[in-house]
Amino acid sequence: MGPSEPEPLLRMRGIVKQFPGVRALDGVDLDVRPGEVHCLLGQNGAGKSTLIKVLAGAHQPDEGEIVFAGAPVRLAGPTAAMRAGIATIYQELDLVDGLSVADNVFLGHERATLGFTRRGDAERAARDLLARLGHGEIPPRREAGRLPAAGKQVVSMARALSHDARLIVMDEPSAALAHDEVTNLFRIIRELTAAGVAVVYISHRLEEIREIGDRVTVLKDGRSVANGLPAKTTKTDHIVSLMTGRDIEYVFPDRPAPAEGGSEVLRVEGLALPGAFEDVSFSVRAGEIVGLAGLVGSGRSEILEAVYGARRPARGRVLVDGRPVRPGDTGAAVRRGMGMAPEERKSQALLLNDTVAGNVTVAGLRRYARFGWLNRRRELADVREQIEALDIRPPDPRRPVVTLSGGNQQKVVLARWLAGTRDLRLLILDEPTRGVDVGARAELYAVIRALAARGIGVLLVSSEVPEVLGLADRVLVVREGRVVHSGDAAALDEATVLNMIMEGSAL
Ligand SMILES: Nc1ncnc2c1ncn2[C@@H]1O[C@H](COP(=O)(O)OP(=O)(O)OP(=O)(O)O)[C@@H](O)[C@H]1O
Ligand SMILES: [Mg+2]
Repeated sequence: MGPSEPEPLLRMRGIVKQFPGVRALDGVDLDVRPGEVHCLLGQNGAGKSTLIKVLAGAHQPDEGEIVFAGAPVRLAGPTAAMRAGIATIYQELDLVDGLSVADNVFLGHERATLGFTRRGDAERAARDLLARLGHGEIPPRREAGRLPAAGKQVVSMARALSHDARLIVMDEPSAALAHDEVTNLFRIIRELTAAGVAVVYISHRLEEIREIGDRVTVLKDGRSVANGLPAKTTKTDHIVSLMTGRDIEYVFPDRPAPAEGGSEVLRVEGLALPGAFEDVSFSVRAGEIVGLAGLVGSGRSEILEAVYGARRPARGRVLVDGRPVRPGDTGAAVRRGMGMAPEERKSQALLLNDTVAGNVTVAGLRRYARFGWLNRRRELADVREQIEALDIRPPDPRRPVVTLSGGNQQKVVLARWLAGTRDLRLLILDEPTRGVDVGARAELYAVIRALAARGIGVLLVSSEVPEVLGLADRVLVVREGRVVHSGDAAALDEATVLNMIMEGSAL
């Protein structure tokens, strides 16, 4: 370190963390300066979350040393880390669903030290913190479990602020956020860093790193392969090749010529759910990918859920292959050939304690049990095929899903539906690439396109407009519960779609 370089606030050296069968961290170094945004990059499973769990006191490292604010520290547990001045916002949010927002914000504080004598004081303090985050509308008494994902994240952030931390670690904070909420998050980060707080920021969106980051550390297979690169000036290609060890062309698969003759797989007629969406009509043909673009809260996820039967619409019909599907009945939807990969994988989709194989085959149990017993060999072969197609790591069907990295868990959700494709007519994907790294994204796009080429209809929602435009054949723009535009993706560009999405909203 040169004499002109500021003394780091945090210095991690040679951190090693071994899990049964996996060396998640294999000698990681990380230096973070006060007041900087230090980005941590790496493919799914590279070790980012494990590293920050070491920092949060949630994992004990097997080797290595941590120096914080000039002194060696042992972060024996979450409380020790918080006391030292390190606050963490986890990738898989860790709120207690049954507690109120205010209780979650002040969880882990000793009440006496806060000087709250009455519940009302804590609620007022929580409201102040939420307001500072631009979310004064979240009621401190509301049960945390009843908030949407973005709201939960704001509560996590309020908790971090409540500790007056000197270092705040954010593990993929933007993954659950809409465009305007990310802008708000960046404003908060700038305020924090201006006050000297350091931020460690994890994201798979490279354009965010360029916008908010000061320096970048890249992890690959549990090692730091580059330390403290300048975030603004390092070329994206260079970062991607450091992460993946190869050059990746970040491209969408070719769109085949429009399948004009394709039969109509899905038809939605006048669907309405008051408070969520009104008068929604569209269709998806065999082999077609239709993308819904819109803000979080625009009604787009609710539309998918009503199509899939997870919500019962007040009016309207859903038809598959020309025949109406019983409304509000996911079982009926599945029997008619629909599959859905939902947005919140943890609560809605995965059996976390079950294995990869168990999760992948759960949708197709009927198929494997056709002769009265589970056809294990066939099941395992299918699972291995999906593990390979989606590059799930580690490639072990018997590993419990809870031990996979966030991005790899997302791939397991998709694999479940891909393994069940023999009877699949319509695949519904809500944020399919959330938390998936750049390398695997391209693979995932290719898999989705290949499914369409086999005659499956695909209906997808993504917060990333370029993804909708790049992947879909046709785009529906949803604003305040109404479809305000429907047209060929090839005829649209990002700015036009963003305009349509935002128009009339309070931005
Ligand atoms: N509790 C655990 N038990 C066993 N293995 C684990 C556990 N937690 C993580 N691992 C493994 O450690 C490795 C690193 O995982 P980690 O969650 O740190 O990755 P990541 O870089 O955060 O990835 P992502 O971008 O997908 O979130 C992976 O191989 C993962 O399967
Ligand atoms: Mg992670």
